[in-house]
Order: sequence, then C-alpha cells, then structure tokens
Amino acid sequence: MLVLGIESSCDETGVALVEARGTALPVLRAQALHTQIEMHQAYGGVVPELASRDHIRRVLPLTQAVLDEAGAHLQQLDVVAYTRGPGLAGALLVGAGIACALGAALGRPVLGVHHLEGHLLSPFLGADPPRFPFVALLVSGGHTQLMRVEGVGGYELLGETIDDAAGEAFDKSAKLMGLPYPGGPALSRLAEQGDPQAFKLPRPLLHSGDLDFSFAGLKTAVLTQARKLGPELQARKADLAAATQAAIVEVLVKKSLAALDRCALDTLVVAGGVGANKALRAQLAAAGAGRNLRVHYPQPHWCTDNGAMIAMAAAMRLASGVEAASRKYAFDVKPRWPLSDLASPGVQGSPAG
Ligand code: KG4
Ligand code: ZN
Repeated sequence: MLVLGIESSCDETGVALVEARGTALPVLRAQALHTQIEMHQAYGGVVPELASRDHIRRVLPLTQAVLDEAGAHLQQLDVVAYTRGPGLAGALLVGAGIACALGAALGRPVLGVHHLEGHLLSPFLGADPPRFPFVALLVSGGHTQLMRVEGVGGYELLGETIDDAAGEAFDKSAKLMGLPYPGGPALSRLAEQGDPQAFKLPRPLLHSGDLDFSFAGLKTAVLTQARKLGPELQARKADLAAATQAAIVEVLVKKSLAALDRCALDTLVVAGGVGANKALRAQLAAAGAGRNLRVHYPQPHWCTDNGAMIAMAAAMRLASGVEAASRKYAFDVKPRWPLSDLASPGVQGSPAG
C-alpha cells in the first residue's frame, strides 16, 4: 500500500511516499522538502499569509519530485494523507485542499494526520525504532509535552507547558540577543562557545512535583540580564546563550526522567525540532549512563517538520487499525488540536522493528 503524505502546517512544505507492507513497519520510498526559513527571515518570524502562498507554489512540484524519485505514478497511490492540525490555519488548508483534491480526482481515500503524532512516530523512520510502550518528550516551536505512548493512537498526556514552548523559549531568547530566525539552532551554535554557568537563570517548575513546564519567566529573565549587560551584551552573548540553553535543557531532562520514573518505563523518545539540540542529547546520554535508559531520536533531518513523518504516521495508523482512510473529501483543519484527543487507551501498537 502506497501512502502519500503532505505536511504544510507551518513554514516547511514536505511531501513523502511510504510503502506499508502488512504487519511490518512501513518503509520510506521518497521524500522532498522545501523550507521557507529564508523567506521569513527578513521578518524575524513566520508570516502566516506568506507561508500559505508559498505552500501553494511548492506542494505540487514537490509531489511530482517524490513520485519521480520513487518511480511511481499518481494512479498507484492508495491513500493520500495530510497534516490536519495543529498549525497555521491557512497553511494547513493548502495541504488539506491539495490532498483531498488528489484523493477525489484519483478516487482514493484520504486521511488527516495530527502533526504531533507525526513527530512522535518519526523515530520509526530510522534504523533503530523504539518499542512500545515508551515516554515521549515532544519539544517543538509550538509544543512541549510529555506523553505516555502505549501504542499507535494510545497517548496519555503526562504534562505540558503552561505558557511558552521550549522551542519558543529558544526562539524568543535568541531574538532578543539579536540572533536570526529560527533562533534555536542559532542560539545553540553560539552556546558552544559560551560558559553555561556565567549567568544564573531560573529553572521554572523544576521542583513543582508535577510534569508541567513553564518557560515564559525564563525569557523575561534573559531579557532582564540582556538589559543589565547593555553594551556589554555583544561580548557576553555566547555566555548568555549557553546559560539560556542550560536552563531549558536541565528542565527538559529532569522532567523527562521524572516521567519515566512515574510510568516505570525505560524508553524515551525525543521528538520535535528542539530534539535536534546537541546539549539536550548530550545531557540525556549522561543521565542514561547511570541507569537503564534507552533514548531514541529521529535522525536530525526528521526532527524538524517534514512530509515523511506524516506519511509514516498515516501508514502506521492504517496498519494498526486505529483508523481507516475516508472517501469523504469535504475537509476541515484543526489549528488547535490536543494530541490526547486521539487517545484510544487499550489500543496496542503496530509492530516495532
Ligand atoms: O518541530 P518543529 O520543526 O516545528 C514545529 O512544529 O514547531 O520545531 C521548530 C522549533 C523552533 O523553535 C526551532 O528554534 C527549534 O525547533 N529548534 C531548535 C534546534 N533546531 C530547531 N532548538 C534548539 N536547538 C536546536 N538545534
Ligand atoms: Zn513540528
């Protein structure tokens, strides 16, 4: 079964083709991606209307490129999947509209996929897929959540941010240090030359006893520190970047370990753009060395938004029987959509490995 996946929730247009083979894990046949980062850079952040217009321009040529690379024809597609939410409404509508038009024209069913489920299942695209059940740390530009994952479609929310997301904390701190958008990668590159202990920054909710996060106060503390430094900021920027990153990473690592303890599990999946952060990976590895902990990451290029994770999530949902594709081509999108809405406890996951 060939599943085409289209991602257009934010500032990346991604298209991919996966092949599902009975009970085995689906395999990626081809994928193509266009990132709008350069286009939005001039504005210091994503401009939703520009994002939608660019998705319109890119999605069909990318689809053709994917089919060409896989040596497949449109008529061979069995299901057309797309990101239904969460994300920017106008951007989501482009992917949903194209997917449903393709499905209707080809007479094939369509499937709307949750963007975060795509991130969550993206480690299954790699050579070392995790085994269910596991704890997932979802850290992107819009979300910071800890989930207990029983299987495909079996998601229990353990904790989440009560204000800014971890990626947002990276991006906003980077912006006020004058770093280019997207701030996360830029801040973490700069942090490599800095001293993480140069400034004392808060670790919000570290000892709250629950698994929730809060990053808005940290951003304010970074702003206060930057103002205090005044003209000195330029020379101390790497130190401030390192201290900011250390604060975010420490909270993410400690809360992830607490979630594993609470669930009595030893497998952690880290997904979403912030999962590409080297300091986060290093500290989780260090934490894992003292205990029986297995940490799975998507490969770095699958950490940020892409079509492969959407096609993969669709194929895994179909293979595990939690959902069937639909021939209803009237579509809607869900700019706000809690992942726990998909939860169907008791559902066992599709095979891992
Ligand atoms: O998952 P993603 O591509 O898009 C969303 O669904 O939000 O995540 C993007 C976020 C941005 O906030 C970006 O700054 C952050 O991930 N990010 C990073 C790194 N790479 C991307 N943050 C810290 N370190 C990185 N290396
Ligand atoms: Zn994302």
